[in-house]
Amino acid sequence: MSSLKLSFETGRKKLGQPVPDSNFESELNRGAPQTMQWYVPLMWLFQYFPVKAISVPLLKQTLTDSLESLAFNFSLSTSSSIGTTLIDAEYKANVPTSGARAKTCRWLDAAHCLALGSSHRPNRFDGLFMYNCVHARVMKSDQIVLPPEDLPKKWYNIVPDIPGGIPPPKEPGDGESRMDALKRRMVGECLKQEMSGSSWIDIPEEVRDLYIHAGRPRPLYRARRLEQRLGLKKARIYYKREDLSPTGSHKVNTALAQAYYAMKEGKMTLVTETGAGQWGTALSYAASMLGLKTVVFWVRAVYDWKPERKFLMQMYGSRVYASPSDQTTFGKSLLTKDPEHPGSLGIAVSEGLEYTDLAADRVYCLGSVLNHVLIHQSIIGLESIEQFKSVNDSPDVVIGCLGGGSNFGGVALPFLGEVLRKKRKCEFLAAQSEAAPNLVKGEYRYDFGDTAGHTPLMMMYTLGHETSMTPIKSDGLRYHAAAPIISALRSQGYVRAVAYPTDELLVFEAAKLFLETEGWLIAGESAHAVRAAIDEARRAEQKGEEKCILANISGHGFLDIDAYKTKVKVD
Ligand SMILES: Cc1ncc(COP(=O)(O)O)c(C=O)c1O
Repeated sequence: MSSLKLSFETGRKKLGQPVPDSNFESELNRGAPQTMQWYVPLMWLFQYFPVKAISVPLLKQTLTDSLESLAFNFSLSTSSSIGTTLIDAEYKANVPTSGARAKTCRWLDAAHCLALGSSHRPNRFDGLFMYNCVHARVMKSDQIVLPPEDLPKKWYNIVPDIPGGIPPPKEPGDGESRMDALKRRMVGECLKQEMSGSSWIDIPEEVRDLYIHAGRPRPLYRARRLEQRLGLKKARIYYKREDLSPTGSHKVNTALAQAYYAMKEGKMTLVTETGAGQWGTALSYAASMLGLKTVVFWVRAVYDWKPERKFLMQMYGSRVYASPSDQTTFGKSLLTKDPEHPGSLGIAVSEGLEYTDLAADRVYCLGSVLNHVLIHQSIIGLESIEQFKSVNDSPDVVIGCLGGGSNFGGVALPFLGEVLRKKRKCEFLAAQSEAAPNLVKGEYRYDFGDTAGHTPLMMMYTLGHETSMTPIKSDGLRYHAAAPIISALRSQGYVRAVAYPTDELLVFEAAKLFLETEGWLIAGESAHAVRAAIDEARRAEQKGEEKCILANISGHGFLDIDAYKTKVKVD
């Protein structure tokens, strides 16, 4: 915005015109919800044309005609010095948001060439012209949007780009084959994607429609108010809005895909685990959209304090059990030892897998860790790449909170793939809790994905599948291991990690600051990413380094108000 404003003001001053004293930025932010209001101040400097080649009335007429029925007001003036013509144009158009960019660029491009006459040969100022048009559109009110027709058509799978690939899963060497059990329990298409050697995987049209119905593409925001509060001069912070999904988190991205494939394969009931409750709600929603049922095993420590989320899942038609539960042999065995057992994500996975075996029309859906989940979540980073291009910026560091790794992977891996393909430079930072600092303190070794050992062994940074973890409010981060893909990239030095204390005061303080400045109430898990973004920005500022930071907002906090009440003070 400010560079645009600068070019506008410079242009006016050069023409000897007064610079309007109205608040340019607040003018830009006005506009009806369904339309975008653009002011495009332009300064064209044509060094290579005789003055008479540019006809101002023709330009004015052409722009008005080209923009058809759009409201269009502008003023033009020229001034000339030897060999140089300067045109300062200011115009404003109300343009429907959807699909507007391509259309308007075409109009303006045509108008530009027409105005310059047939003798015109494209030169570098054309680039400047087009850049200004696009720039003006996307910088509107710090919200960077993609129209639905720009929703990516393929998911990205980073595995083929990782040097040496990732170590394959292994059988533990005792009991039944865990691979065979997975084939029986999992959605067939998801298992295929789990082993896929393709970098790009088609998103079925029906899933794209469901994504659009669920509000994708999601906006990217520049956190200008947070930057101002932090007094940043060198660092820029952007955030991606996965909290805007129907159930309030990124989990919907894979839930819709898994439910769709399960439906195509004739399954009736989706069985799953959930920690924070976000994944259970997302799958309940996706199942409901596709006419299926869901059974959710929910970590008891969280189940007990989130009755609203439980009710939401039930409204979608799901059955929800506190885990450990009396529905499985494993759950019963734990309850016998400790009737108040708080549970863990690993235990809930074990229960879900066991429960799936009890009927043929059930299928197990996992909300994190596995390759296919990270593939579906790549939609987050793929959209973000396009959004950054449209504002001509690029992140130096991408940050996500990390429990099992699905939102971090989703936002980071498309960027990281470009790093591996030598197309960009960027760092990646996972924000964790000291309750489960798997990347920070874990060992890189083979381990089970669940507590009872029903899954194959996977090569991961792990704290041990039987480790007990301190309960925290941001329970989605309380998982013993990080996804095999993220772990492999960490072992090769591409991923940094930080863990915040289990009292969660630092992260909820960041969440409150984010609420006060940007206005959004975010999940405790996402607050870890925001804390890390603030810390990175402050460090860059102290060192006097330019830094562009992208943080993923993995979820909203509307059903986490009780957590806020215990962590945040208000007057
Ligand atoms: C809002 C939110 N963010 C982040 C996570 C962490 O999961 P993952 O690391 O798979 O993204 C969860 C998990 O439940 C969550 O609910």
